[in-house]
Amino acid sequence: MPTGTTDESAVAEFAADVRSGLGRPGQKELPSKYLYDAIGSALFEVISLLPEYGVTRADERVLRQHAAEIVARVPAPVRVAELGSGTGRKTRSLLEAFARREPTSYFPIEISRAALRMCRRELSDIESIHIVGFEREYLDGLREVAAGREPEERILVLFLGSTIGNFDRPAGVEFLEQVREILEAGDALLLGTDLEKPVAQLVEGYDDPLGITAAFNRNLLARVNRELDADFDLQGYDHVVRYDPEERRIEMHLRARYTQTVTIAKADFTVMIREGETIWTESSHKYSRWEPYRMAKQSGFGCVAQWVDEEWPFAENLLIAE
Ligand code: AVI
Repeated sequence: MPTGTTDESAVAEFAADVRSGLGRPGQKELPSKYLYDAIGSALFEVISLLPEYGVTRADERVLRQHAAEIVARVPAPVRVAELGSGTGRKTRSLLEAFARREPTSYFPIEISRAALRMCRRELSDIESIHIVGFEREYLDGLREVAAGREPEERILVLFLGSTIGNFDRPAGVEFLEQVREILEAGDALLLGTDLEKPVAQLVEGYDDPLGITAAFNRNLLARVNRELDADFDLQGYDHVVRYDPEERRIEMHLRARYTQTVTIAKADFTVMIREGETIWTESSHKYSRWEPYRMAKQSGFGCVAQWVDEEWPFAENLLIAE
């Protein structure tokens, strides 16, 4: 998760993504990966504490309760790679369980330098865990981790927090396929999936009464202003959350309160956004209990175990590469 885009090629890529997302005919979009600069990452930390948003706590609880069982199912020696570690807090109990078995290397992969720094600080006290952070896109980082493996070593990939849900369903399976291609048969993937629940509960989780998620969403426009020299009126957009029952996903949008022309200087681009028009900023897909088994099959894995949280419907799925 980026702290803020400063190097030239990253600025150019951000500008190109903003131009193509806002310049397309029909629904305007901004990629959700840009939600996580330093401010967005800090707001997400607060979201994970909100009573209305149970995903992160459920993830942590399942890992804490079943850490020993998970470790027992992944034979030693193993190197653990985490795609999008965030602060690393939810991974602690699992790493402690690995450390009890034998010294283990842990490779958090993050595009945010700030998150990597926090992760190192959070987990560095665990004895027998050697942390090597990769400031990379997920698949690039995983390729490097795989390239450095010892012949007998297995890889366990952690993809927690239901980040898979931020991909469209077909893109999620495609992503798992790409992960599978990097791995060898017998390697493992621990996949967190947020499960379907009543719509009102889902909507509240993304539209909390304190307005933290609204700030997280609006910060995307603030980031475009800061980093691409744009002039979005941040007060001119409402945070809108919808549940699409066919796609079984929450969508976050920003809806213009009035018609406005926005100039994004570093993207060399001007766009008119009409009153009532929305910019789609994130999708968060929700899964049935059986869906991870199907997704695993479709992408070259077998799902060999599933643990479901008792308080908040959320499943941790252990996939083994076939
Ligand atoms: C990171 N990701 C899984 C979160 C989710 O639930 O989709 C991001 C989030 N967006 C709003 N609240 C949390």
